[in-house]
Amino acid sequence: MLEVTFADAALPTSGALGLLVAESAGASGLWHEADEATGGAITRAFAAAEFTGKDGQTCTILAPGAGLSRVVAIGLGKEADLTPRKYEDAGGSLAATLAREPAAALAADGLPGAHAAAAALGATLRAYRFDLYRTKQKPEDKPKLAALRVLTTARDEAETAWAPLKALANGVFTTRDLVSEPANILTPAEFATRIHKLADLGLQIEAFGQEELETLGFGSLLGVSQGSINPPRMVVMQWRGGGDDKPVAFIGKGVTFDTGGISIKPAAGMEDMKWDMAGAGAVVGLMAALAGRRARVNAVGLVGLVENMPSGTAQRPGDVVKSYSGQTIEVLNTDAEGRLVLADVLWYAQEKFDPRFMVDLATLTGAIIVALGHEHAGLFSNDDDLATKLLAAGEATGEKLWRMPMGRDYDKQLKSDIADMKNITGRPGSSITAAQFIARFVNEKPWAHLDIAGTAWSSKDAPITPKGATAFGVRLLDRLVADYFEGK
Ligand code: BES
Ligand code: MN
Ligand code: ZN
Repeated sequence: MLEVTFADAALPTSGALGLLVAESAGASGLWHEADEATGGAITRAFAAAEFTGKDGQTCTILAPGAGLSRVVAIGLGKEADLTPRKYEDAGGSLAATLAREPAAALAADGLPGAHAAAAALGATLRAYRFDLYRTKQKPEDKPKLAALRVLTTARDEAETAWAPLKALANGVFTTRDLVSEPANILTPAEFATRIHKLADLGLQIEAFGQEELETLGFGSLLGVSQGSINPPRMVVMQWRGGGDDKPVAFIGKGVTFDTGGISIKPAAGMEDMKWDMAGAGAVVGLMAALAGRRARVNAVGLVGLVENMPSGTAQRPGDVVKSYSGQTIEVLNTDAEGRLVLADVLWYAQEKFDPRFMVDLATLTGAIIVALGHEHAGLFSNDDDLATKLLAAGEATGEKLWRMPMGRDYDKQLKSDIADMKNITGRPGSSITAAQFIARFVNEKPWAHLDIAGTAWSSKDAPITPKGATAFGVRLLDRLVADYFEGK
């Protein structure tokens, strides 16, 4: 992780310096000092580049003098529109621009400490890399940025704001690491092993294997898993920071690889299904963040970990399984497996913990990508209050949600000729009918389902998210907890 430190505002005499510039702002503070020390190099460069601080604009000045290796200015856009999110994005763009510099300073003088810390978070999140399997990368091809010194006039405030954000970044990285791993490495058992390593944060962790899940009667989850030589796990993580309060519960789909099973997927793009465990990955990162920042809440995270494979032992289309809830399911398509996993884990979550609410995260349907693209995750809920809070947390973090409809007419499409329900419907509205299926395993409890199939992985860099695993959901749900459920 980028090493972030905070120091009092004094002009550096070497290395790189970052400036955050609001639109049409005049030079002041460290910016003005740097300009003076370099004989006006910054003012001249801004004029030559027509840099005015517009949102998304950047300007790099190499070797401007005064010992500095480079000055990078990031445009913040209009002063009136400045939110902490803007500072995160600016910090992220700065980290990307300074990738070649081993160490850099950020002029955050004159900013509230919270904004300085937000910029540090953005820089940290953007500087993430997953390099585990690159053995031949040349040093000159590797990004060098390892440390960021934030120069601030509000050091105490900034350091106080940074402590929980650092724990949050650690949670995001936990998720990104898990989601980036290939499926030959991250089997359900290995996934569980990695979760156990988070016990150091103060999480209480319990794992269930094949036999224990059989004893419990997890017929729906086990049907998905039965075609794989890699046995399933369910892992339960508990963070107790909220005294005797009832917990909040987060549930994740953790299909470590989804071939589709006997209803096998086409070859093109199937490699993407290594990240069909992104919901579970987000739950784990979220729990790491909550524990890491000692959140004043009781929270439980549950993940269903299975591999969906075709084989001689795989479940067949037409099979009927009995879920942990007792309801029977006709499995008409083995590729609609995520809902089968969630069904048992959700039922267990509410039976065992009687939570205040449940939120599940799942890369559930291709159809949600058709509906919402990669800009919003689908939000489905039986509770307007929970949905409103989630939408607000989405706006605040930039992990945006769009609420989708639910209702009886969708639900009745799940009627089966042989069992209590079937696991697929026709294509129309199939993200919604998938949510209706899951809702049948929720018993009069505030619940929300986030379909993150379009947002869990990114094919291009964004300001605070390098391409690849996004960890969508971690910042969102950390914010949901912080804004509405801590100490309340
Ligand atoms: N894991 C997939 C959904 C998915 C698709 C996630 C693309 C990420 C990117 C899920 O298990 C699945 O296969 N869904 C099917 C459901 C269908 C068989 C009813 C789908 O979306 O096609
Ligand atoms: Mn599938
Ligand atoms: Zn899947």
